This record gives sequence, structure tokens and C-alpha cells, in this order.
Amino acid sequence: AERVPARQPLSGRSVLVTAGPTQEPIDPVRFIANRSSGRQGYAIAAACAALGAEVTLVSGPTNLPCPEGVRRIDVTTACDMDAACKAALPVDAAICTAAVGDWRVAEPALQKRKKPHEKPRTGTAAQPASSLTLTLVENPDILASLSRPGPDRPALVVGFAAETEALESHAREKRQRKGCDWLLANDVGAGSSVFGGDRNTILFLTATETTLWPELPKATIGRALADRIAAFFSGHIA
Ligand code: CTP
Ligand code: CA
Repeated sequence: AERVPARQPLSGRSVLVTAGPTQEPIDPVRFIANRSSGRQGYAIAAACAALGAEVTLVSGPTNLPCPEGVRRIDVTTACDMDAACKAALPVDAAICTAAVGDWRVAEPALQKRKKPHEKPRTGTAAQPASSLTLTLVENPDILASLSRPGPDRPALVVGFAAETEALESHAREKRQRKGCDWLLANDVGAGSSVFGGDRNTILFLTATETTLWPELPKATIGRALADRIAAFFSGHIA
């Protein structure tokens, strides 16, 4: 007899997840990046897939394996991530966990940058022998553009925020500025081990709700968010 898979809470729903850091080239061998491990985003992608969603994971460079049942699209820069997200539309829900670089180098060098080598070079930390100025330009804001009203806007858009101070007020302001429906904020101030760590403490915000989730493993947070998304689509919550 054929096995008929049981209908799952997110069956028939498509979910886009961004995860990981971005890398912005300075020259062919150097880049600007950040300390994101991608773990929270991968956990969310895995949890949504486990509930039956069709998940597209647009991921910057990480050391993580692709979760089971997830379609992963690998990208490097913020501009590539933006283009891959637009190409994945339409989706029912978008969850932006990526640590997108806010800036990119305006004109990356086509060849490896060389130091000046003319005179004897006796620089110290206090008195460097030379300096280099890079011009940075702002990257596209993927969460804000996914949140913008229009025919392709997902029914549910979720953002993340890493803050080092004034967690709730900064997060509330950020949710409004980005135009997303839900925002999960975490405190990455001194003493926190969110980046690369296994656990996270989330302040969950909607237009009408503020809930502090207890410190939990990232996998548990992924399942909690996937459950909440399933409840949203089954009409229980706004
Ligand atoms: N984000 C994004 N594209 C960007 C920057 C951020 O999609 N270019 C998303 C992140 O994935 C996250 C949310 O926006 O879901 C908040 O990112 P954050 O860096 O906290 O917000 P910014 O608007 O960049 O503000 P800040 O000045 O605090 O860095
Ligand atoms: Ca930022």
C-alpha cells in the first residue's frame, strides 16, 4: 500500500528564510563580513520544513549543513542575497534572520591591493607608515523591501534585530521602520554569547504584543516560531 503523508500544519505553504552573514569584497582575496553563524536561521528553516512548508533558505557563507527537505540558495554579498530573495517570490511567509552587511565597498579592486613599498617602512601601532581609506555605500535593505506593500508582499514578514542597548524601544522602532509584521529582538551586548552560541533570549514583538521568551536553545526557538507561523496561517492569531 502507498503511504499517504499526513497533512502537516504548514503543508502547501511556502517560506523564505535568509540566514548567515554576507561578505562584501574589498579585492579578490579580502572581504568585510561579520560574526553571524547562521544557526538561528537554519533552525527556523528546519522547523518550518518539519511542519511541511516548502522552504527556500537563502544563505550567506556558513559552515552548516543544509537542513533536511530545505532548498538552499548560496549567496555571498548583500546584493546577491537581495536578488535571490526577489527571485524566490511569491511566498506565503518571509523570515529575515541574515546578518546582512549594511555597507559594501563602493569600488572593489579588480586585483589584489598592494601596500606602498617605496621607502623604508618603520610604522608602529601609534604611528602607522601609511593608511588606506575605503568608501562604503549602503546595501539594499532586504527586510524593508520584502515588507513593502504590493502584490508580491508575503502575508507574513518576520524580522530579527540584534541590539546592544535599549532593547525594547529600539526593537519597536525597528519593527515600524522596516514595516514587518513580527520582530524577534535579542540582546547582543557585552556578556552575551548569541553569535555562534547555541542559545538565545528573544523579545517577540507584533503590532500589539510584547513577549519575553525565556533563554532557549536556537532549535527550540525555531520550533516555537514555526508553530506560531502555523497558527497564523490557520487563522488563530493575527
Ligand atoms: N536586514 C536586511 N537587509 C539589510 C539589513 C538588515 O534584510 N540590508 C534585516 C536583517 O535580516 C534583520 C533586520 O533587517 O531581520 C534588522 O537588521 P539590523 O541590522 O538590526 O537593522 P538595520 O536596519 O540594519 O539597523 P542597524 O542600524 O541597527 O544595523
Ligand atoms: Ca544592520
